[in-house]
Amino acid sequence: MNHSGNCFIFTLFILACYLVTPSLSFCGIGLRRPWNVSINNFVPGDIVVHITSTDHDLGNHTISSNGKYYWTFCEKLFGRSKFTGNFRWGSKFQTLALFDREIVDICEFDISSDQVCHWIVNPDGFFVSGTNDPFPKGWAKKKTW
Ligand SMILES: *[C@@H]1O[C@H](CO)[C@@H](O)[C@H](O)[C@H]1NC(C)=O
Ligand SMILES: *[C@@H]1O[C@H](CO)[C@@H](O)[C@H](O)[C@H]1NC(C)=O
Repeated sequence: MNHSGNCFIFTLFILACYLVTPSLSFCGIGLRRPWNVSINNFVPGDIVVHITSTDHDLGNHTISSNGKYYWTFCEKLFGRSKFTGNFRWGSKFQTLALFDREIVDICEFDISSDQVCHWIVNPDGFFVSGTNDPFPKGWAKKKTW
């Protein structure tokens, strides 16, 4: 096969990837995966979370009891994205990694679909899951208040 034939096949392959997984296209070619990280508040009262990464400040968000907040982003190449959350609940404070290599290992279970990570904040602490099964099955506790 000549060189331009190879290019044509390659182009078809890339196009097919976009058609099969249209949700990946907003992050560009495959290596940068889209993530959706959500925080569910199950403490009896408002919590305030301030989320930052090395290049983003998502600001302060008040999440009411039984409410949720989520954000989406494209993973950096080679999985170096990192988000930290500063939480306040009344007089209590806590800081923890909401997204880093260790959290990716917990949340990723199907690299062909959109990646989701769910957090639950309750009076006992902070729990993370990639499957969002009914609590507490499959939820990893990362910190207490
Ligand atoms: C992100 O996840 C949250 C919680 O599961 C969901 O409500 C929301 O629709 C998702 N957003 C996007 C853009 O996928
Ligand atoms: C978020 O709230 C904290 C505490 O009230 C404040 O110090 C900080 O400046 C706020 N950050 C933003 C980006 O609004």
